[in-house]
Amino acid sequence: MIGEMYDKYVLPKILDVCCSTKPINYQRNKVVPKAKGNVLEIGIGSGLNIPHYDKSSVNKIIGLDPSEELNEIAIKKAAKYSVDIDFVIGGAEEIALPSNSIDTLLITYTLCTIPELKESLKEMKRVIKDNGILLFCEHGIAPDQNIMKWQNRINPLWSKLFGGCNINRNIPKIIQGSGFKISKLEQMYLPSTPKIVGYNYWGEASL
Ligand SMILES: C[S@@+](CC[C@H](N)C(=O)[O-])C[C@H]1O[C@@H](n2cnc3c(N)ncnc32)[C@H](O)[C@@H]1O
Repeated sequence: MIGEMYDKYVLPKILDVCCSTKPINYQRNKVVPKAKGNVLEIGIGSGLNIPHYDKSSVNKIIGLDPSEELNEIAIKKAAKYSVDIDFVIGGAEEIALPSNSIDTLLITYTLCTIPELKESLKEMKRVIKDNGILLFCEHGIAPDQNIMKWQNRINPLWSKLFGGCNINRNIPKIIQGSGFKISKLEQMYLPSTPKIVGYNYWGEASL
């Protein structure tokens, strides 16, 4: 009961605030404006990427997320920034879109949370066009043994508190392991961010 109330009323606000720090917004701006054509944003959440889209490059945006509560916040943001988005409530494990229909898959701070990564990446590969691009920006496992050790220790509790978010996923390995080929990869600790959650990976991949 308390857990349900927390997930419904508290967690969406926590995620919205925690994912909109200055360093994270800076990261968003490195990735999101590259989206073009028909865009599918996986795990659009509360819509924190909405202000960063280059509207002149985008044909259509579809925002997928299983959380109705986060979706309500995202709808308000889309209206505020006059961005036309088709919101779909659902997980990436089963994407109700035709194969070979998406020019840009955008995923930010969501590979940490998706429970069924294998199925989800398979679906992402199905819907993306042969010449489409996957833009990603994620936090994940740090390169330093000491930080990694704490990430692994804290992860079980962290995941319970933050809606299934994992702080110790190896993002490049997950993307490449699914069959996507990474063509650009950058990584660093975000400034002013605790190191256990602040190691970011961002870049581009394709089929
Ligand atoms: C930390 S939030 C990030 C939200 C947003 N991408 C951002 O950059 O602010 C993680 C998001 O993953 C979403 N999520 C959880 N399970 C998912 C799934 N199976 N498929 C797609 N998204 C999922 C959550 O609802 C949440 O919106």
